[in-house]
Amino acid sequence: MELFYFLVTICLSLAFSGRCSDDYSRNDFPEGFVFGSAVSAFQWEGAVDEDGRMPSVLDTTVHSSNGSSGIIACDGYHKYKEDVRLMYDMGLDAFRLSISWSRLIPSGRGPVNPKGLLFYKNLIQELKRHGIEPHVTLYHDDLPQALEDEYGGWKDRKIIKDFTAYADVCFREFGNTVKFWSTINEPNMLALVNYGVGFLSQTNCTPPFEMVNCTKGNTSTEPYIVLHNMLLAHASTARLYKQNYKHKQNGSVGITFFAFWMVPFTTSEEDEIATQRAKDFLLGWVLHPLVFGDYPNVMRRIVGKRLPCFSEEESYLVKDSSDFLGVIHYTTTYTTADLSSPSQRDFLSDMAASMIPIGNSTLFTIDVLPWGLEGVLEYIKQNYGNPPVYILENGRPTNHHSPLNDVERIEYLHAYIAAVLNSVRNGSETKGYFQWSFMDLFEFINSNYTYGLYYVNFSDPERKRSPKTSALWYSCFLNGTTTCSQDLKNISLSSSPGLSSS
Ligand SMILES: *[C@@H]1O[C@H](CO)[C@@H](O)[C@H](O)[C@H]1NC(C)=O
Ligand SMILES: *[C@@H]1O[C@H](CO)[C@@H](O)[C@H](O)[C@H]1NC(C)=O
Ligand SMILES: *[C@@H]1O[C@H](CO)[C@@H](O)[C@H](O)[C@H]1NC(C)=O
Ligand SMILES: *[C@@H]1O[C@H](CO)[C@@H](O)[C@H](O)[C@H]1NC(C)=O
Ligand SMILES: *[C@@H]1O[C@H](CO)[C@@H](O)[C@H](O)[C@H]1NC(C)=O
Ligand SMILES: *[C@@H]1O[C@H](CO)[C@@H](O)[C@H](O)[C@H]1NC(C)=O
Ligand SMILES: *[C@@H]1O[C@H](CO)[C@@H](O)[C@H](O)[C@H]1NC(C)=O
Ligand SMILES: *[C@@H]1O[C@H](CO)[C@@H](O)[C@H](O)[C@H]1NC(C)=O
Ligand SMILES: *[C@@H]1O[C@H](CO)[C@@H](O)[C@H](O)[C@H]1NC(C)=O
Ligand SMILES: *[C@@H]1O[C@H](CO)[C@@H](O)[C@H](O)[C@H]1NC(C)=O
Repeated sequence: MELFYFLVTICLSLAFSGRCSDDYSRNDFPEGFVFGSAVSAFQWEGAVDEDGRMPSVLDTTVHSSNGSSGIIACDGYHKYKEDVRLMYDMGLDAFRLSISWSRLIPSGRGPVNPKGLLFYKNLIQELKRHGIEPHVTLYHDDLPQALEDEYGGWKDRKIIKDFTAYADVCFREFGNTVKFWSTINEPNMLALVNYGVGFLSQTNCTPPFEMVNCTKGNTSTEPYIVLHNMLLAHASTARLYKQNYKHKQNGSVGITFFAFWMVPFTTSEEDEIATQRAKDFLLGWVLHPLVFGDYPNVMRRIVGKRLPCFSEEESYLVKDSSDFLGVIHYTTTYTTADLSSPSQRDFLSDMAASMIPIGNSTLFTIDVLPWGLEGVLEYIKQNYGNPPVYILENGRPTNHHSPLNDVERIEYLHAYIAAVLNSVRNGSETKGYFQWSFMDLFEFINSNYTYGLYYVNFSDPERKRSPKTSALWYSCFLNGTTTCSQDLKNISLSSSPGLSSS
C-alpha cells in the first residue's frame, strides 16, 4: 500500500506539473475516428443462471467450488439502461460489448433462448437510441459448457459449424443495427493461456507446463489445434456474412488479437532474432494466415508436424477474411533468447524466447510505454498491408481499493491516445480506440486490480457506480477540449459536469 501511495504521488506531480498538459485534442484525429470504451459479457452482466442462461466454461472454472450461482458481477443484465445513460453522459461514440453464447443459445447449439434474445435486442436498441455505435464481439472466452462437455470445445473441428450457426443467429437478429462484428477475442492469448498452461479451460494442459493441476490435454499440440480451429471458425463466419448479410446490412466482420509489443533485451544478435521469432509466434500466428493464407515460415520450421495444415480451400477461406483487425494492447516487454530444450516441447519452448518486464511493470501494474503501441501499429502497417485497425482494448489496471483520483490511469490514457495519433499521422489506418474498461469489472484472476473509468462497489448489493477522475478526463477529451489535464485540477468529484453516480 505504501508503495502504491508513493507511486500516486509521483504520478500526481507528473500529471499536474504541466508536463502532461494536453498537446492534442480529439479534433486532431481524422473525421469519423471513433472513441469508445468496452466490457465483456461475463465480467459485466452477472445474472448467470437467470432467464434461461446456461453455464459457460468460465462459470465452471471460476466458480467450480460453488456452482455458478450468485455471480452478480456488475449486474449489467439489470442495470444496462443506467449504464448506457452513463456512456451517453460521458460522450462515448461507441461501446464494445460481447454476447454470451450460452445466454442466447443455452446449449451452444439448437434453440434460441427468447429472453436472451430480448436482452441483447434491448441493450443494442438502448445504445442506438443514445447515438452510441455498438461494436459486438461474438466470443469473449465464454464457451457454452455443453459444447466443452460434448466434444471438447475448440479442440474439435465440430466447433466451426456450431460457432457459425451461432453467428448466423446474431447477424440475423441484430445485424440491422450492429455494423461492427468481431468474431473471437484474442485467440492467440486464449489458445496459449487455456491450452498451454491450462488456466481457464478445465485444466487442459500437461505437466510440467501447468499453472494448475492438469487433468487432461496436451500442451505440445493443443494450443496450435485450438488456434487453427478459431481461425477457421472466424473465416467461416466471415464468409457467411459476406454471402448472406453484407449486401443488406453493410457491416464489417473482423477478428481481434492480443498484441504485446516486444523489444530485444540486449543488442546481441541472438536477442534480435529471438524478438523477431517471438513476433512471428505471438502476432504472426494470427496475422500471417489472415494476410498470406498460412502460418509464418519460422513456425512451420520449428513446430513441424504439430502445426496443423490449411488445405488449399481453407487457406483461401482464411486469407483476407477480416475486414479489420481488432488490436488488444496493454504493454511492452523485453524479449531474450531462451534456448533451453525441455523433453516435451510446448508453445513457449518452440518460440524459444522469454519475456522480461520493462521498468516497474508486473503482471498487474503496468508502466506507461506508449511507443509500444506505435510499434504494434507500425508493424501491422509495414508487414501486413496496412489494413483498417480498431484498438479494441487499451487501459491500465489500478488498485481497486484506491481512491477515485486515478491520475495514473489518466497519465496512461493520455500517452497512449497520443501514440495512436502519431501512428495515424504516419499512415496507419487505425479507425477507432476503445478504452478498457468502461467500469470496474468482475476480474476473476485478481480482483484487486480493475480497469474502470467508473468505480463499482462490489460489496454493495446495488453495485453503485461512481466516476473516477479518469471518467472526467475522458469525457473532457471526448468533448474536444485541449486542456483537460489542466482543467481537472479545478474539478472536484462532487461537482463533476455531466457525470453522475448511479
Ligand atoms: C456460494 O454461492 C452463494 C450464492 O448462491 C453465496 O451466498 C455464497 O457466499 C457462496 N459461497 C462461496 C464460498 O463463495
Ligand atoms: C495440485 O494438487 C495437489 C494435490 O491435490 C495439491 O496439493 C496442489 O496444491 C495442487 N496444485 C495446484 C497448482 O492447484
Ligand atoms: C502430445 O502429443 C504429441 C504429438 O501427438 C505426442 O507425441 C505426445 O506423446 C502427447 N503427449 C501427451 C502427454 O499425451
Ligand atoms: C456502406 O458502408 C460504407 C462505409 O461503412 C458507406 O460508405 C456506404 O455508404 C454504405 N452503403 C450503404 C448502401 O449503406
Ligand atoms: C519506476 O519507478 C520509479 C520509482 O517509483 C520511477 O522513478 C521510474 O520512472 C519508473 N520507471 C518507469 C519506466 O516508469
Ligand atoms: C513512418 O512511416 C514510414 C513509412 O512507412 C516508416 O519508414 C517510418 O519508420 C515510420 N515512422 C515511425 C516513427 O514509425
Ligand atoms: C488482494 O488484496 C488483499 C488486501 O490487500 C489481500 O489480502 C489479497 O491477498 C489480495 N488478493 C490477491 C489475489 O492478490
Ligand atoms: C460499498 O458498499 C458497502 C455496502 O453498501 C458500504 O458499506 C461501503 O462503504 C461501500 N464502499 C465504498 C468505497 O463506497
Ligand atoms: C463541451 O464543449 C463545449 C464547447 O465546445 C462547452 O460549452 C461545454 O461546456 C463542454 N462540456 C463539457 C461537459 O465539458
Ligand atoms: C483553477 O482555479 C484557480 C482558482 O480557483 C484559478 O485561478 C485558475 O485559473 C483555474 N484554472 C483553470 C485552468 O481553470
